[in-house]
Amino acid sequence: MKEGIILAIETSCDETSAAVVTTDRKILSNTLHSQEDLHSKYGGVIPELASREHILRIDEITKSAIQNSGINLNDITAIACTYTPGLIGSLLIGISYAKGLALSLNKPLIGVDHVKAHLRSYEIEFTDPQYPIVGLVVSGGHTLLYIIKDDFEESLLGTTLDDAAGEALDKIAKLLGFGYPGGPVIDRISKPLPQKLIQFPSVKTKSEYDFSFSGLKTYALYLLKGQDMRGKERELNEDELKTLCASFQECVVDELLSRIKRAVSDTNVNSVAITGGVAANSRLRDKIGQYCQKNRLNLYIPSVKYCTDNAAMVANYAIKLYERDLFSPLDLDAIPTKKYEHSHR
Ligand code: KG4
Ligand code: ZN
Repeated sequence: MKEGIILAIETSCDETSAAVVTTDRKILSNTLHSQEDLHSKYGGVIPELASREHILRIDEITKSAIQNSGINLNDITAIACTYTPGLIGSLLIGISYAKGLALSLNKPLIGVDHVKAHLRSYEIEFTDPQYPIVGLVVSGGHTLLYIIKDDFEESLLGTTLDDAAGEALDKIAKLLGFGYPGGPVIDRISKPLPQKLIQFPSVKTKSEYDFSFSGLKTYALYLLKGQDMRGKERELNEDELKTLCASFQECVVDELLSRIKRAVSDTNVNSVAITGGVAANSRLRDKIGQYCQKNRLNLYIPSVKYCTDNAAMVANYAIKLYERDLFSPLDLDAIPTKKYEHSHR
């Protein structure tokens, strides 16, 4: 095993984060500045504001990651950064900063795919995961279902045909005036769970491993308007709003769970991993916890701080690339969108 210390930088969306991690996966530091307050009033991330904020924060966040880790800059053996997917301006700031460091310290650069970093983020806390694993990455930008074969290989089973699950939660929250990000607010408001939930229709997709959330969003919109079959509208009261939130959350959670359950039963896999921002959702954690316990499956869900965007998961994935000498050239480009292909169809 190749030893070393990785400095990783994450700036793909609205979090500026830096982490120092040893190749035996000790997190020496993981610093983060969230831009939630900046974007909240707009109900979503404003790309230009995000880039500007990254520029203001990246130096102090990286310096405090180095300082908190107790190592010297010269002890670092490689510099990693997220290069895809994400907001182009935001990605470029992390990449440029990482390139500058790599060049001046004469250390190799490692470009990391943000989605792959999420997918493997359970490795930060689960040191001996049992493969193969049915792995779901569920965030504001992605909903991807994988069979994870071993510590480096995976194949895609399904993906969303429209919105990501987090995006759907954020959009409904925006309609309700809850600010951004909406997922955590919906999670909070839905507790304690109302006794009676509204039944949403379940979604059928051509491939039974794919997801679709746009129809559910429209259904929620009609309910929100209090629209009856004759199209008459009325304001919902507080209890009705809570019930709507909790019911929408429940249907998103159930859509996610149904695909996981199908993948588990089709493949006879004994382990499940859920990662990405939406994996922080308490209802999803409860329901998948119960299912895995009942069916004696291993469950790997990171702590909340490793579900949402963070540089420790970027470092974790970078270690795999470092061990295989998969370094990036210094002209590494930012790639804002990436298509994740099905390999099973
Ligand atoms: O992974 P992440 O931080 O960024 C992306 O790569 O997109 O995920 C952010 C998403 C947002 O849509 C946010 O609303 C959602 O994760 N999220 C949650 C919760 N915490 C964050 N959704 C539901 N319940 C939560 N507790
Ligand atoms: Zn993310």
